[in-house]
Amino acid sequence: MKFFVDTAETDQIAELNALGMVDGVTTNPSLILKSGRDILEVTKEIAEMVDGPVSAEVVALNADEMIAEGRKLAAIAGNIAVKVPLTWDGLKACKVLSGEGHMVNVTLCFSANQALLAAKAGATFISPFIGRLDDINLDGMELIADIRTIYDNYGFETQILAASIRTVNHAFQAAHIGADVMTAPPAVIKKMAEHPLTDQGLKTFMADWEKTGQKIL
Ligand code: G3P
Repeated sequence: MKFFVDTAETDQIAELNALGMVDGVTTNPSLILKSGRDILEVTKEIAEMVDGPVSAEVVALNADEMIAEGRKLAAIAGNIAVKVPLTWDGLKACKVLSGEGHMVNVTLCFSANQALLAAKAGATFISPFIGRLDDINLDGMELIADIRTIYDNYGFETQILAASIRTVNHAFQAAHIGADVMTAPPAVIKKMAEHPLTDQGLKTFMADWEKTGQKIL
């Protein structure tokens, strides 16, 4: 499973990147706002830091403007994935931009039918939002499983990018179902390293080591 980091905070990307945890980065208008940075500037900086796809989102609502924005974002670097919303206009933009050879990430996906349309329009990535479905008492993970089944039924190459990952359990379940990629905030990725039995075991080892009176260095 590929790990994308869902942030535009370059210091946090750098920390995870140094550990080999970053296969790509996703951003959106809310994350750009949070970073306080200029979209073109920060996207360029991130694209230079990581080798994998860096998603940058268009903000136009009609296809022609989305395409123009997408071309401008794609020109920033060779590893930009243009992010378009899953609307009819977004699908039109996806078809044109992917036809030009750009990676396209179709975002704000909340149903398997939407995911099917995105695949037919040539999306490189489809981003189903798990957490936001859970927020309204629907099952985000069921959507990932449904998309996996449908894509596998027909051999679609569009990669399932599990998004809106809020918990370590989301990360585990997405991996278990076979999402190709997950994008998660840095804090969730770091939390995946935690287990209470690890902490407890380490505490015991440290106490016993102290009693040996030995040193390694
Ligand atoms: O990648 C999409 C993600 O940023 C949305 O997450 O937590 O705002 O629903 P969230």
